[in-house]
Amino acid sequence: MRVLFVCLGNICRSPLAEGVLKHLVDKNGLTGDVEVDSAGTCAHHVGQRADPRSQAVAKTHGVTLTSRGRQVAASDFEDFDLIVAMDDENVSNLRRECPDAQQSKIRLMRSWDPEGEGDVPDPYYGGPRGFDLIYDMIDRSCRALLAEFRA
Ligand code: 4NP
Repeated sequence: MRVLFVCLGNICRSPLAEGVLKHLVDKNGLTGDVEVDSAGTCAHHVGQRADPRSQAVAKTHGVTLTSRGRQVAASDFEDFDLIVAMDDENVSNLRRECPDAQQSKIRLMRSWDPEGEGDVPDPYYGGPRGFDLIYDMIDRSCRALLAEFRA
């Protein structure tokens, strides 16, 4: 299974989701069964490492973020089995670009969150506490996504 996480900039939320799911995949002995990547709907941060605040919160949980920012490409809709958006605006932007045959691949991240629903909020202009909050949402959602895959 190939999973692509998508947010706006591909420097805060989706690199964190990529790192967390990769970490869980490795920990569960599923390396090679699940491929994980991330991308942004905008091009402003292409080539950049994850935001230092995302790197910091990941590190406190033993997760290392290695991704570089890239923008969603037309080929992603074909190449991935699951395209997981962090918020409703990301979903709308993806739906506009996605061929009809691949629309069912697009899902909202927190559709897996057992403790809530809605957006993984954009933490870019907030403080570090925002990053703790999104870490928890992302971690819960990734665990449930992986459990669904294994079931
Ligand atoms: P992300 O966060 O979509 O989670 O990567 C953002 C990063 C950058 C900006 C907005 C959100 N920005 O406006 O530059």
